[in-house]
Amino acid sequence: MSCIIVHVLIILSDYERIHNRIVEIGNLRLYIMSELSEFLNRPLNIGNRQISTRLVLAPMSKIGHPPFRQMVSEFGGCGLMFSEMCSANAIANNSSHKLSGFIWQTEELPQLVCQLYGSDPMQMAKAAEMVESKGFFGVDLNFGCSVSALCRKNCGAAILKNPALATQIISAIRRAVSIPIFVKFRTGWEDNPKIPVELAKRFEDAGADALSFHPRVAPDKRTRPPKWEYIGMVKQAVSIPVFGNGNVFDIEDCAKMIHTTRCDGVMLGRIAIAKPWSFAQWSTGFEPKAEIYRDCAVKLLELLISYFEEQTALRRFHKFAAYYSGSFCFGHRFFADVCKAKDIAALKDTLNHFFEHQSEINPKIINRFS
Ligand SMILES: Cc1cc2nc3c(=O)[nH]c(=O)nc-3n(C[C@H](O)[C@H](O)[C@H](O)COP(=O)(O)O)c2cc1C
Repeated sequence: MSCIIVHVLIILSDYERIHNRIVEIGNLRLYIMSELSEFLNRPLNIGNRQISTRLVLAPMSKIGHPPFRQMVSEFGGCGLMFSEMCSANAIANNSSHKLSGFIWQTEELPQLVCQLYGSDPMQMAKAAEMVESKGFFGVDLNFGCSVSALCRKNCGAAILKNPALATQIISAIRRAVSIPIFVKFRTGWEDNPKIPVELAKRFEDAGADALSFHPRVAPDKRTRPPKWEYIGMVKQAVSIPVFGNGNVFDIEDCAKMIHTTRCDGVMLGRIAIAKPWSFAQWSTGFEPKAEIYRDCAVKLLELLISYFEEQTALRRFHKFAAYYSGSFCFGHRFFADVCKAKDIAALKDTLNHFFEHQSEINPKIINRFS
């Protein structure tokens, strides 16, 4: 009998220990959330302007178009949005109609930064003047994209091989515009933290107002994890704001990046596609309901249809689905079915069918489309 009592007491004390641990973790999470949202909602000065929330939307080609930005913006909690990358030459030569990315809605301009790529300082400065004249919050320089089509033209991350050219570009733009200048860059082409630290100092000296830093070497794409400790080193080296970027997939990642690197803000890329409500959830305490996955997909499709012609709307939705599908247990099927839909009616049927039958959520985002 006494043996059974001892056994029950052990089970009860185990239960209590586990229960206390759960409460502890729950409290820690609440603490993280309240500390984090306090930090994220602290205003930040960038050049001659200010943002009120320190979570920002990363520039993403074929994703960060006006319909997607409208959806994110309606949730709230996003301090600044970066456009898709735009060719500085095309803008400077007034052939911007050829650029799918140089598009906006008037109401988003106070929060919108236009990202430019190019390699000619004069053309970049001319394009930046145009960006300023349209009323954008700022201009961002793409010194980070490592896709070969861009690097072959000496643009994107290829510029990091030539720091003197990078600073000439920034100085030329600084002389041309007064709106904030952002620089988005990577570690460089070798895995050595001294390289981004030196680059960051040069960018600041040349007139940049803020940096977005993605701590991966250029040939890396997204295979190996980014080295967040390099963000801390870059932050220490400059006095302008630094946004950390890379592999922030949940609120704990966000808190950890801020805590360990002391960065001034966090730039979200793929998680903003998979869960466009993340900005609102992390910075304003917004609580998504189960239907949000369906609502978001349907809403984006509606916005795309009203903004683009049918085939462009379909292509943009396919691109979105590649990342959005990462949240679902049967995401591979969702993505395949979305890609099979050849017109809007078929795509609507696909969405209805998927969300009625197969939309079981996977608690951990599947990074299938890295
Ligand atoms: C679909 C897609 C398109 C992207 N397009 C751009 C771009 O136009 N300009 C740019 O600087 N970075 C671009 N990036 C890189 C992101 O801005 C970001 O640096 C990268 O996704 C890492 O952040 P994450 O881990 O939060 O996704 C793109 C990324 C994705 C997934």
